[in-house]
Amino acid sequence: MSVGLLGLGAYLPERIMTNAEWAEYVDTSDEWITSRTGIHRRRVAAADQNTADLAVAAAEQAIADSGLTVADIDEIIVATDTPEVYIPDTASFVQTRLGAREVPAYDLGGSGCAGFVLGLDIARSRALANDRRVLVIGVELLTRLMNWQDRNTCVLFGDAAGAAVVGAGPGMAEILAANAGTDGTRSDILGLEVGGTRMPFTEERARQGLHKEIVMHGREVFREAVRRMTAASMDVLEQAGVGIEDVALVVPHQANQRILDAVGDRLGVPPEKVFVNVHEYGNTGSASVPVALWEARAQGRIQPGDLVLLTAFGAGFHWAALLVRF
Ligand code: UT7
Repeated sequence: MSVGLLGLGAYLPERIMTNAEWAEYVDTSDEWITSRTGIHRRRVAAADQNTADLAVAAAEQAIADSGLTVADIDEIIVATDTPEVYIPDTASFVQTRLGAREVPAYDLGGSGCAGFVLGLDIARSRALANDRRVLVIGVELLTRLMNWQDRNTCVLFGDAAGAAVVGAGPGMAEILAANAGTDGTRSDILGLEVGGTRMPFTEERARQGLHKEIVMHGREVFREAVRRMTAASMDVLEQAGVGIEDVALVVPHQANQRILDAVGDRLGVPPEKVFVNVHEYGNTGSASVPVALWEARAQGRIQPGDLVLLTAFGAGFHWAALLVRF
């Protein structure tokens, strides 16, 4: 039995925030952000929009794109590090807001930018084992939970949601191979320390702004991101018995133009085969791969028969890759 992506969807908040606007908040410049990251602008959710709002908008589009209705959805996975609330998970709100049946619905939290691709891998096995149609959503409101005074992190991120329905049959894109992994020895170089049992949220910590302080050792994260996304990609190619020259488009996690260039170089693919939209949306965490895949298809960059390689990396460290044939 084959399993495939049946439909895709995305939602991008209307408000566009440019690099020049960031320079009004922190000591930065359009020149610095553009040259170090390739990011020109990002989207920022409206004050009355929360995680589930973005998730539901992307999910409804993915379900419609699949030619299904919400009644056909048998399971819901929401990959997010910026949940609606801590308890219950965002998937509970999404299940109700979509009007889905009382199906299993759960979050993949804390897996950073790799969450959505990891979710596709899980959905694939759930669909295989139980003949289910699984809705997978990657959603982040990173601008809401970050420190707007920390120039090392705030200029990098944006808000967005992307979704896919995974189910039996080749659908629009058959899943040929998947890879996912974790290296917890590096858990200290990317994360949010305050808010859990180790360092509970207190008034004093909130006053210091620590509840929004993202710890990030940029250069080390950069190196690991390149290494892991490349290795995961090579693994799925090997599993499927195809070469990189057979791949029509690589859709990597959009964190930084220089990371995308380095992954392309290491894989040996020309720049035109690496999909890039980081200049438009910044790093949207677990939403980045589904939004990029959705946009690549909308722009006609993917044709029937094309092999497309998805690869992602995030806090944990976690990584994941998926090879699909459209
Ligand atoms: O999805 C996973 C999440 N994270 C990532 O993907 C991040 C991966 N890493 C990166 O993208 C890059 O490492 C960064 C974009 C974060 C930083 O680029 P870099 O070339 O590694 O710069 P750096 O960390 O070496 O910093 C260079 C300088 C520092 O100043 P000093 O110490 O050399 O005087 C920073 O303080 O740039 C300074 N800096 C800034 N300057 C202007 C840091 N942020 C900014 C800023 N504007 N926004």
